[in-house]
Amino acid sequence: MLARPVLVAYASRHHGTEEMAIEIADALRAAGFEVDLRAASDVLTIEPYGAVIVGSAVYMFHWEIPALELIRRERVALATRKVWLFSSGPVGDGKSTRHPETVPHPDGVDELADEVGARGRAMFGGRVDPRQGGFAMAIMAKAGLEGDWRDLPRVRAWAHEIAADLRAAT
Ligand SMILES: Cc1cc2nc3c(=O)[nH]c(=O)nc-3n(C[C@H](O)[C@H](O)[C@H](O)COP(=O)(O)O)c2cc1C
Repeated sequence: MLARPVLVAYASRHHGTEEMAIEIADALRAAGFEVDLRAASDVLTIEPYGAVIVGSAVYMFHWEIPALELIRRERVALATRKVWLFSSGPVGDGKSTRHPETVPHPDGVDELADEVGARGRAMFGGRVDPRQGGFAMAIMAKAGLEGDWRDLPRVRAWAHEIAADLRAAT
């Protein structure tokens, strides 16, 4: 088992990505790992962690700034740790939600993942829920994009892959 805890950090405007991060943290805890779950904006340092998972919602083809800033700021330390990245994006009843794994990450994310030597990256479907508030959510809902395309079993399965990788590496 890892001697140091795992950090699961997320950037989420309307809790959809946060709930996915919770799912990942819960799966890793159930697998026996010590896990800190934090908003990316609340992470002061990644020094205590042996592995780091960072997830961001995608808005207007971009990751959220706190997730980008966390990785950019900690890139040197991240390069010496085990890192996984995930995006929460595609919504609507189309090909991108049937096969979110084929949707590219926003510009710059793959480059950051390469730079820190990420062991894995995943694209998951997202959620538009106007009850979460916000003008933009209301506009998306009006455009017929209201719904929940987050595949939580797939998120959990991804967390199990991470647990297996961490276990094999220790
Ligand atoms: C205004 C707006 C713009 C969005 N832009 C994108 C986008 O460019 N690409 C994408 O895949 N998803 C896009 N989405 C969908 C969100 O990424 C998705 O709803 C996500 O799950 C929201 O996560 P959150 O609840 O953590 O904020 C957009 C949603 C809204 C409301």
